[in-house]
Amino acid sequence: MTVNKRMLSEFVKSKKLKVVQDLHEFCIWLNLVNHLEPRVGMEIGTCKGGTALLTAKFIKGLEFFITVDIEDRPVNHRKVLCLRGDTRLLSTRKKVVDTLEGKPLDFLFIDGEHDLLTVAVDFYSFAPLVRKGGLVGIHDIHTFAEGKRFCADGTLYFWRTLRKLEPHKLEDIKKSVMGIGIYHC
Ligand SMILES: C[S@@+](CC[C@H](N)C(=O)[O-])C[C@H]1O[C@@H](n2cnc3c(N)ncnc32)[C@H](O)[C@@H]1O
Repeated sequence: MTVNKRMLSEFVKSKKLKVVQDLHEFCIWLNLVNHLEPRVGMEIGTCKGGTALLTAKFIKGLEFFITVDIEDRPVNHRKVLCLRGDTRLLSTRKKVVDTLEGKPLDFLFIDGEHDLLTVAVDFYSFAPLVRKGGLVGIHDIHTFAEGKRFCADGTLYFWRTLRKLEPHKLEDIKKSVMGIGIYHC
């Protein structure tokens, strides 16, 4: 399935979803993920469930999608499994590992707290659960650079650091002030 922005916009409108994403960028991300023929995915930062529902709808063949938030954020979809927990805690990582029952993740979308420590913890504790050849998306890698009102300087700084360490594994999606960083596992 190739997803386009119009399909996403219509779905968002029809379901009255609250999504904190640029739909053009998220559409590129979904198409990259679809190429993996993924079965299991995860998101950090459920919020109002918009990205989880878009993912469950537009990722073909998805078996289940784990989404984690520090607050109680229920999402009503049979493929979406909502976990509550602070991703900086080992107990939350354990909940995710137990839920996976030994299956690797095909992809991970990081969109939780945007300070440097949390983004780094999220990446280094959960990216190793993604299989080789899978993808990690990190939201808001450009926000601060554009000098807009949001301040995602933690993700921006983390992305710049990762670029120094593993430049060959990174790709940028930048169609708005937010941006999604792609890490190829
Ligand atoms: C920017 S919102 C996510 C937006 C969502 N992905 C979307 O586009 O619809 C960030 C979410 O991360 C959650 N969050 C913040 N710190 C967290 C932490 N340490 N562990 C888990 N979730 C966290 C917040 O409660 C919030 O719901």
